[in-house]
Amino acid sequence: MKNKMLNWFKDIYKETEGVGVYFAPGRVNLIGEHTDYNGGHVFPCALEIGTYGAVRLREDRTLRFYSINFPDEGVIISSLDDVLSGEELIYHRKDDWANYPKGVLWAFAQHSFLEKHSDIKIESSNINRGMDILYYGDIPNGSGLSSSASLEVLTAYIIKDLFQIDISLKDISLLSQYAENKYVGVNSGIMDQFAVAMGKKNHAIFLDTSTLEYEYAPLSLVDKRIVISNSNKRRGLGDSKYNERRSECEEALRRLQTVVKINTLGDLSKDEFEAHKDIIKDDTLIRRARHAVYENQRTIEAIKSLKTNDMQRFGDLMNESHISLRDDYEVTGHELDSLVEAAWEQDGLIGARMTGAGFGGCTVNIVDEEYIESFISKVGIQYKEKTGLRADFYVVEIGGGPRRL
Ligand code: GLA
Repeated sequence: MKNKMLNWFKDIYKETEGVGVYFAPGRVNLIGEHTDYNGGHVFPCALEIGTYGAVRLREDRTLRFYSINFPDEGVIISSLDDVLSGEELIYHRKDDWANYPKGVLWAFAQHSFLEKHSDIKIESSNINRGMDILYYGDIPNGSGLSSSASLEVLTAYIIKDLFQIDISLKDISLLSQYAENKYVGVNSGIMDQFAVAMGKKNHAIFLDTSTLEYEYAPLSLVDKRIVISNSNKRRGLGDSKYNERRSECEEALRRLQTVVKINTLGDLSKDEFEAHKDIIKDDTLIRRARHAVYENQRTIEAIKSLKTNDMQRFGDLMNESHISLRDDYEVTGHELDSLVEAAWEQDGLIGARMTGAGFGGCTVNIVDEEYIESFISKVGIQYKEKTGLRADFYVVEIGGGPRRL
């Protein structure tokens, strides 16, 4: 891959000297969906697929971005002075995908970010030269596998490395999330950037999003494998109902706070929720909050069942998670439901659910190795019959975090 990147770089920028190649993974979330902005737990892992970046420092302050995945956009040109200056949003629609790396550069210079995280010392004046960057990603974009977080974390990691900025991987995830929230304008939680930046080979990350305390859980699936299926129904986070779900949870929380002392929905046990839920009054808001509370408890139970090697329980929790996302949170839709429901019928299936924000994108399945072939072919046929769409399947490995190749 490194050579491929160097060759592409040469084709686009006509340079071969001083080019570095980097990688950051995508992620799949095993369980704990729509809990990260509710102070709950998540359980994602980094993948071996991800985003590559080839980069070369320039003598001037020009920035040039090119993506092999979006050749029609051509080389997108900007400058350090435009990107680093000002507190104002300077998201340019015409810059398309390049707003992600630009947003990350912008975040490095944001005082409002740095003041909030006073332990992070970034001398953004270190960033004093322009760059030519070429990206290539093998994560299907808009599929719920965090192609955007991967691009953001990769860019932050490149900047850390090239300009010798002293910033930890955990802080890289916070900075990338800040770029996504404030520059790109999607109010996402911390899960994706954290999973990408902190990924560890063969481990899933059990993260408490209210404290950012985390634990690596070895995922020895033995004779089972993770199979991701892509519904090929694209989802754009920005124009989806993601922000709406977030506000619904905030409203439910405000109402609950009039009777219980909690900071987030993740602070509630199931019993506490049941005892107080009537104060929320609105049926939709009750269902949204119920999902957040129960999904958090499921995630806590999921890591326990993994530790006792109870894979069947883990799979059942995945299935329950999907049902809750379908009925209470309403973020699945016909395509994701058809894929998961087809998976549930197959021999060798341990558990299946949608993964990521929902409204399209991918599902995650744990499948007995010996059944993988029949699983893929039967689910593919059933899905096509029901939706007219072709599903893609990936048998994935859990990979490590960002690195220079
Ligand atoms: C998207 C967001 C995450 C998280 C998931 C849902 O991937 O970026 O922060 O909220 O949706 O679990």
